[in-house]
Amino acid sequence: MSAQVDQLVAEAVAAAGNAYAPYSHFHVGAALLLDDGSIVTGANFENASYGMTLCAETVALAKANSDGQLRRIVAIAVAGGPAAAGGVPQIGLEAITPCGRCRQIIKEVADLTAIDLPVYCARAGGYDTHLLSELLPHGFGPASLGG
Ligand code: THU
Repeated sequence: MSAQVDQLVAEAVAAAGNAYAPYSHFHVGAALLLDDGSIVTGANFENASYGMTLCAETVALAKANSDGQLRRIVAIAVAGGPAAAGGVPQIGLEAITPCGRCRQIIKEVADLTAIDLPVYCARAGGYDTHLLSELLPHGFGPASLGG
């Protein structure tokens, strides 16, 4: 699993190279591991109307959804930092973690599959491992609508 996670994190770093972030110059990549070992990536997509920006995790999850792969996601990696040469981020000593909105969107998938998704967050020299339940405790989800 560890080599597979190393690859997933590396794919998230590489995906950040495709970020469109002319306003923040903060490049983020996300990589989703599917149950057959394949990987779906995403990068942040900014907008002149700043609040319209799409985060890397959301882009990757929407890609997986539109390819009919949502139920096959078993793990997520995220990597980000200020843009460096080639668009790849400078990964800091402190890992970045998904923003609150992305945590909520990840929760939709975790609830769909009943997998407490591991989220691997790149930092210099490695990554931190979190479970979604740790990143978004007491979250609002489909079960909350049941009354
Ligand atoms: N960003 C992401 O892509 N994912 C996150 O979880 C946090 C923030 C992006 C949004 C924006 O383009 C840039 O990072 C700076 O906030």
